[in-house]
Order: sequence, then C-alpha cells, then structure tokens
Amino acid sequence: MHRGHLRVAQTIPLTHLVARTHDPRPTRQSLAGALFLSYFIVMVTREEAYKLLTDHVQGESLIRHCLAVEASMRSLAKFFSANEEAWGIAGLLHDADWEETKDTPEQHTLVLSEWLEDWDLGDEGIKKAILAHNHFHNGHEPPTSQFEWSLYCADELTGLIVACALVQPNKNIGTVTVDSVMRKFPEAAFAAGVDRSKIELCETELSIDLESFVEVVLKAMQEIADPLGL
Ligand SMILES: [Fe+2]
Repeated sequence: MHRGHLRVAQTIPLTHLVARTHDPRPTRQSLAGALFLSYFIVMVTREEAYKLLTDHVQGESLIRHCLAVEASMRSLAKFFSANEEAWGIAGLLHDADWEETKDTPEQHTLVLSEWLEDWDLGDEGIKKAILAHNHFHNGHEPPTSQFEWSLYCADELTGLIVACALVQPNKNIGTVTVDSVMRKFPEAAFAAGVDRSKIELCETELSIDLESFVEVVLKAMQEIADPLGL
C-alpha cells in the first residue's frame, strides 16, 4: 500500500470539498471547513512517485524516458499555466508498469492504476492522463483535456529528441536545436519507431504549433541533460 504525505494541493475544487460535508446547503461553517481541508489535502510527493517508479523499473533507459517526460510535462504545465506538480508526477509515473505489462499492452497503465488505488494523488487528472496515454490498448477513453493531450504528445516527442541527441558528435542534447528536430521530423527512416502523427496532434488538440511544442520539450530535456545521460 502506498500513501502520500500531507501536502498542499490546490487542484481540488472548493465545491467538491463542500459536497463531501454532506450538507446540501453549504453553511459558513462548512465553507470554513472546506477551506481548511483545501489547505491540508494530501498529495503524493515527487520522491514517493520516483520510488514507485524505481521499485518497478529496472531498465535505465526507461527510467530516463520517464524523467524526460516528467521534465517535459512540468515545462508544459508552466507554459499552459497548469499544475506543474501534478503534470510532472503524471509524466514521471506514466510508464511505471511497462516492464510488467510489456507482453500484455492492454494491461499497461491499468496495473499502474491499481498500484495508485490507495494513493492520495490530490489531482485525479494524474490517473486519467496516465490511462488516456495508452487508450489504444487499454480501452480507456482517448485524451480530452490539455493535461491528457500534453502527456500523449510529449511522450512520443521525447523519443524523437533523444534520437536527435544520439546522432550529435558527443551525443550531447545541448547541441540539439529546434531546427534540427524539425528537419528530422519528416524523415520517416529516422527514429522510425516514433509516431509523428501523435506528436502533431499538439497543433489541433493543444493549439500550439509543432515548432513551439518542440521548443518547450527540448528545453525541458536540456535542463536535465545529466540525469538523461545526454
Ligand atoms: Fe512513455
């Protein structure tokens, strides 16, 4: 069983907290109680999420991928003025059950979702974003929110950027440019496993042009070059 520590969470609507008092007509007392709760509602810490990830993932490249997606999601949350902590945790955890479900893709994210059952995530969007990123296989509904689409599109883009870094003279992500990623984008033979169509959805679903999306994600990854080994 995993439990999150007490932590300020700003993502739970006040109305939801008031509703949990079972008072059909919010009173001054119930509103005060809700305000109190909204300050002390728990949310999993980044450290706990990282521990869960590394408890279940042995492969260094997969851990680095999760770190890359986490950094990307934090930067995208900042870009969209969203909850950086919740988006980062979703990015960090999104593939935590991959090694245990690689032969049963329909189970990928469902197993993780079960692990998170007893967690106080603070933001239910985390679990939804994780589930939606594998909707083709797990039967969950496709992404709908900015949060969910960001994870869906960034997940794939980090792979293309890693491939761009690996062909640099020193495999140095610091010398990768937005232009170089954009040049490799239409080359189907380069990083052939990266589904460009998923990344391109940023334009219609997130209303951000591809070049800007690449810029945000590339910068985020460059800031954690050492942990990424690039
Ligand atoms: Fe992923």
